[in-house]
Amino acid sequence: MSAVRVTDIAHSFVSKRLRMGEVAVDATAGNGYDTLALARMVGQTGEVFALDIQSCALVATGRRLKEHGLDQVGNLHQCGHENLADVVPDIHHGKVSAVMFNLGYLPGGDKSLMTHEQTTLSAIQQALDILKKGGVCTVVCYPGHEGGAREAAMVSQFVEGLDPDLYRFQRHESEHCKNDSPFLWAVEKICSG
Ligand SMILES: C[S@@+](CC[C@H](N)C(=O)[O-])C[C@H]1O[C@@H](n2cnc3c(N)ncnc32)[C@H](O)[C@@H]1O
Repeated sequence: MSAVRVTDIAHSFVSKRLRMGEVAVDATAGNGYDTLALARMVGQTGEVFALDIQSCALVATGRRLKEHGLDQVGNLHQCGHENLADVVPDIHHGKVSAVMFNLGYLPGGDKSLMTHEQTTLSAIQQALDILKKGGVCTVVCYPGHEGGAREAAMVSQFVEGLDPDLYRFQRHESEHCKNDSPFLWAVEKICSG
């Protein structure tokens, strides 16, 4: 039997908390798997903002949504997630139910176009700021990628430094993981203070 992937754990965590008609964000759209999962969860009455720096990622994401009849749900933006709070309109701030990050590079794409700790940390902070109380943020980290170990360590330091009165957080790893295996941070905003 194959091991459970951390991306599947992230989907499961979010699906238990995200409802039809709600607003969600995919901060790293890539090939659109996470965007599609979020779009299915919020349905035709919801909205999913999806960001990526690469136009090919947004094309793939748009195609995937269309194939599933969910293209009206997606709001795609070619820009870095460090602009997340500007991309998501003010009316949604404090009302977003879920933000997903899947760090690193586009599988099968240009590995130099990967996420970087400085912009990633700024984006995670913005994601937490726009979440509603009870909203969740997931971050899949890839310490085995070149440059990924430092980013993963910085993300862990950031999450472990969050105020426990405001956020609950858990680290998940896949079964049979090695030191540099991908891992997931799942954060829940428990107080909007
Ligand atoms: C691992 S892939 C994401 C996979 C995707 N979530 C999926 O379901 O297919 C990481 C993506 O992050 C994107 N990326 C890199 N830097 C970024 C940034 N500053 N803002 C937003 N996306 C970025 C890359 O272009 C790449 O497509």
